[in-house]
Parts: sequence; structure tokens; C-alpha cells
Amino acid sequence: MSSDHAHEDAPPLTEDIAPGTAADPAVGGPDRATVTVDGVEVTVAAGSTLLDAVEAVDTADSVPALCSYDRQEIGPRSECRTCMVETEADGIVPACSHPAEDGMAVSTDAEAAAEARDVNLDLVLSNHNLRCTTCGKNGRCELQDAAIDEEVEEPRYGVLDDREEYEPLDDTSSFIQIDRNKCILCNRCVDACNDVQVEGVLRMEGSGQDTRIGFQSDAETMEDSTCVSCGHCATVCPTGSLVEKGIEDATTIPLPGFTQKNSIGKSVESSGRSKGPMTPKKRDADRCESGDPSANGSTPNAPAAEDVADDGWAGFEGGEWP
Ligand code: SF4
Ligand code: SF4
Ligand code: FES
Repeated sequence: MSSDHAHEDAPPLTEDIAPGTAADPAVGGPDRATVTVDGVEVTVAAGSTLLDAVEAVDTADSVPALCSYDRQEIGPRSECRTCMVETEADGIVPACSHPAEDGMAVSTDAEAAAEARDVNLDLVLSNHNLRCTTCGKNGRCELQDAAIDEEVEEPRYGVLDDREEYEPLDDTSSFIQIDRNKCILCNRCVDACNDVQVEGVLRMEGSGQDTRIGFQSDAETMEDSTCVSCGHCATVCPTGSLVEKGIEDATTIPLPGFTQKNSIGKSVESSGRSKGPMTPKKRDADRCESGDPSANGSTPNAPAAEDVADDGWAGFEGGEWP
């Protein structure tokens, strides 16, 4: 059969397609799930989580869901456990990562689920520097919103001030400021940098209470990392941990001399050397490949190794409230 003949016999492309139904799955079909949330039935699309169902109704209790980010394929991370709900079938589960299955019944105001959410929110707060008045995200912070919604007056496990010294604020980048004392380890920035921007700059490093945001290149500072200053990480950060430079004090309560930087006490500043068109790591790799004898693991304008050590993170300890 010639291709011309096959073309003549082919039906018109639109013959079997009814207008308006081409890609729409049937409501209530096997690819959707109808879930009952606090007694209210809601139908959600295939692949939805219980959090999608919870967010579709006016729930009895609020469900914070701090590490969830429902855009750009970031998450669910299932890290913070502030989204716990009770299900008939499986007991207390994190709503953000539990698949919504047809016929499930969910309760947001079950006592055990509400207590689990409260405890987990208090645990997040206990590892957070609660200096909201000097924070660039004051008034637009998801952790602050959750604490207000849940009427937290005093986290039962204290706050960071009571427990740990501060990490110095990383003010070395001309584009992003990092205050790890406000990081809730939600992982959103790591997903945004690696999976969405595909830059591979950020990572989680360490373990236990030493877990922190770090750099895949083993850089000590944002300035020395391979960051391309796209800003995506700061966009998805729910707290004041990653903030774009220039607006880091935008929502600080206007008291003279009261800033995000001096609320921490210590910060690591920019070395002042220019990255040029390439990051230091890429430039060094490029020079090695071209056989440039000046390639010695440092940048052309970089100070000597011992100066870098003095200028970097090493030796910094937590600051004190001025
Ligand atoms: S600004 Fe830098 S660290 Fe943040 S997402 Fe972009 S490349 Fe990654
Ligand atoms: S820096 Fe922000 S986005 Fe990244 S893990 Fe910490 S709180 Fe989450
Ligand atoms: S939002 Fe579900 S575990 Fe964080």
C-alpha cells in the first residue's frame, strides 16, 4: 500500500472527537478520587494528595503544610509534618504526601491529628530565630502566618535563642542573603535550584541538629558557590532564610539602627572580588582544561589561600543580641 493511498483512506482527524471532551476524564471515574473531608465530599484529580482535597474545602481546623509547595513540581517533601490529618483507613498521616484515594474519609479536627500538627509546628519554631521585627519577610512569612493561625503564644520547646548560638548570616552574595537561623529545612529551595532551575547549587548537608543548607560545590559561602543569581530559591523559601538582597530589610519594623544583619550579630561579608562571567569553580576548570599554569584552585583576583581562610566562614561563632 502506497503512502498516498493510506492518506486517501484515512478518516478526517476530527471524525471521532466530540467537541469539549477530547482530554477531559469523566468526573468520578477511575482516574479521579472522591474524598470526604470533615464530612464534606470533594472530588480531586488523578494524582492528587489528601492536602489537595483538604485545601478544596473549608476545613474544621487549619492545616499549615509548611514544606509543601504546590507549583513548579516542587515537593511534596513531607519534611515538616505540620499537615497531619486523621484518616479512617490509615490513622494519622501527612496530608501533603498521602495519595487521595476514592472513598477515603479525612478528619482535620480529630484530637490526635490537631495535637500532632501543634507539636510539629512547635518543633519547627523551636529551631527558628523568632526575630520577626528585624526580618525581611515580616508580614509575608508562611511560618509566621501558621503560628498566628494556630494561636501559638509560646512554643512549648522554646525558640532558637534558648538553645543554640546563631550561625553567622551569609551576606557575601550580591543577590541572595542567607540566614540559616531561620531555615526550617523544608527543602523547597533545594528542589527549586536543582529540579526546576537545574543549576545544582544547593544541597542539604549535615545531620540531626547540624543539618543545614549548603553547597554542592563544597563552597563555604554563597559568593564562592556556583550560584547564577536566578533568585528562584528565595522565591520559594517560606521564611526569611533566603531573601533577595535589596529587600532584606524591606519589612523590618522601622526602629533606628535595627536591621536583619545586626539582629544576628555576626555576618560573613563579600570579599569584593568579581566573579566575572564565570563562577570561580567553572573558571578554574576552564583554565585547567586549557593548560593555563595560573590555574591553582583560586580565582585571578583572589587573595592568598591563608587570607581566604581568614576571610571566610572559619572562625565565626554565633553572635549576640546587640
Ligand atoms: S539563585 Fe543560585 S542558589 Fe538560588 S536557585 Fe538560583 S542558582 Fe540556585
Ligand atoms: S532556606 Fe528556606 S526554602 Fe531552603 S530549606 Fe530553609 S526554609 Fe526551606
Ligand atoms: S507540608 Fe506535609 S510534611 Fe510538611
